[in-house]
Amino acid sequence: MAAAVLPDLTTELGPLTLQSPLILASSPWGWGAEEAAELASSGIGALTAKSVGPAPRIGHSEPTIYDWGEGLINAVGLANPGAEAAVEGLLALKAALKRQGVSLIVSIFADTVDRYHEVAETIAQVEPEMVEVNISCPNVEAEFGAPFATECPAAAAATAAARSALACPLSVKLAPNVPNLVQIAEAVVGAGADMLTVSNTMPGMVIDVEARKPVLSNITGGLSGEALRPVAVRMVYELHRAFGGEVPIIGTGGVLRGRDAIEMVMAGATAVGMATVALRHGPAGVRRVLTELDEWMSDHGVETLAEIRGVVG
Ligand SMILES: Cc1cc2nc3c(=O)[nH]c(=O)nc-3n(C[C@H](O)[C@H](O)[C@H](O)COP(=O)(O)O)c2cc1C
Repeated sequence: MAAAVLPDLTTELGPLTLQSPLILASSPWGWGAEEAAELASSGIGALTAKSVGPAPRIGHSEPTIYDWGEGLINAVGLANPGAEAAVEGLLALKAALKRQGVSLIVSIFADTVDRYHEVAETIAQVEPEMVEVNISCPNVEAEFGAPFATECPAAAAATAAARSALACPLSVKLAPNVPNLVQIAEAVVGAGADMLTVSNTMPGMVIDVEARKPVLSNITGGLSGEALRPVAVRMVYELHRAFGGEVPIIGTGGVLRGRDAIEMVMAGATAVGMATVALRHGPAGVRRVLTELDEWMSDHGVETLAEIRGVVG
């Protein structure tokens, strides 16, 4: 075994310098500055707020989240107050995070290309450190049609529309259930994305056999947690290879322990996103990932994650 070292977890994510490679992925937190401050104290580098769209949405009716043991299935349905109404809360959130050295990533979605531009313009008032363009939400297809992330022209158009309203770094969040992942990634990078977030949840369905009905009111939902990890690792690996490591990737999906974060980085991720672990265990679960990551690096003589990034070839 290599000699123990003191790992340096500072992470260069495109033009951003993060105090840690761990990022809270977009999910139902992010509105209350107090709650966010508690999560921020768990050692993250950035927090991604819940996706905001052009208009208020109540989302789907309960139950919207179900833990089936090997992951979560959710169909929240993009519940949000609308971009305009979200600005004030996001400004407060940004200030609370800043006090702890944590960057704010604002996630946006829309149902048309023009509305991606409008939402981005509204969100620009917040001056977040980064904007994540969610083109891949799987739970609103009945209303919105197929996600923008499933076709190159649509993915590029949504990206370009957001890019033209924003000066800050921009990541685009891709979908796992596409046969042409690399082409879609090339399209969004060509349209102005600085980096990629992979992955959003995977469409799935869980049935309660005693009740003889699906566990979610929406019937289908998005899988996250354990079940998603090998899918997300494969996506990170393919994209890291396709871009020769030149496009930073926020590897997201099933990171629940320190080893999972190491796996993401070995596949090629620059930073590591997490939602399920925080939903299940709160700040303590996130802190454990960081502690275990740090211990693994120390035990293996790895001083910076750059030493193992994309190491699997
Ligand atoms: C309850 C819930 C709500 C989510 N809401 C959003 C969202 O609003 N926008 C988004 O881009 N991703 C959303 N996601 C997806 C997560 O950001 C993440 O991509 C996914 O859960 C995989 O990471 P994980 O396995 O660490 O949870 C949500 C996930 C969950 C579990």
